[in-house]
Amino acid sequence: MRRHTPLATCAGLFVLGVLTTTCSSKPSPASSSTPKLWGELTPVVSVKELMRDMIDPLADNVFDAVSIVGTEKGVVEKMPTTDADWEKIRVGGVSLAEGAYLLKIQRSFTPPGEDNNATGPDAVVLSAAQMRAKVEADPVMWNAKIEALRNVGLEVLDIVKRKDANELWGASEDLDRACEACHLEYWYPGEKDLFRRLDRRLKEFTASRAGTTAQPQEATQPQEATQPQK
Ligand code: HEC
Repeated sequence: MRRHTPLATCAGLFVLGVLTTTCSSKPSPASSSTPKLWGELTPVVSVKELMRDMIDPLADNVFDAVSIVGTEKGVVEKMPTTDADWEKIRVGGVSLAEGAYLLKIQRSFTPPGEDNNATGPDAVVLSAAQMRAKVEADPVMWNAKIEALRNVGLEVLDIVKRKDANELWGASEDLDRACEACHLEYWYPGEKDLFRRLDRRLKEFTASRAGTTAQPQEATQPQEATQPQK
């Protein structure tokens, strides 16, 4: 684990929105800035299983809440209408808002004896050891991705309160972005580089056709990144 100066710790906690009291450089009692726990927190499954068996299926309560599907009878728009529909979305929102914090518990990334197929020069995914090393080198970034996911959970709960079905489109996009932002950093960062290279090529190509000099730029985060599992 990296050592933090008290100031850096303050800044980190501030970013996380965990800190409710003023930052002071004097060591303060742990209870004043950390949420109180009623007991020990121990993980049951790996990150991979937490995703597969909890985060992913419950995110579908939100993703599947609104859709437009072309059927034989024409275009069918699916929107929540009944109390049961909204309840399902609420279950999704609560599970994401609360469940996101389970990612703060130190746990293995893959089930025992398993690893990602992360060897060779063309590997896009990181190995469990690489993922862990990344989190340990910069826990603030890992936590920021977790907070981003939690925030979408809170956004969903707010929409459920107001039962504004139209806002679910935006929430669904925000959710997709929160998932992808973490995956592109920790799971398949190779894809980030791939998109960046493709984007640069495209810019060079467009510029050469327009007869101007290419200005290779950093690509912004790809929004259409393919999710291997979806
Ligand atoms: C804070 C980071 C983080 C966030 C946020 C996150 N994931 Fe993941 N997810 C991971 C990591 C890391 C892996 C790779 C785990 C591994 O393969 O060891 C993963 C893997 C997965 C997998 C593959 C599981 C399998 O069986 O291989 C699915 C599906 C998934 N995530 C879905 C989601 C969805 C849906 C969301 C958003 C609602 C999401 N994740 C948000 C970190 C995150």
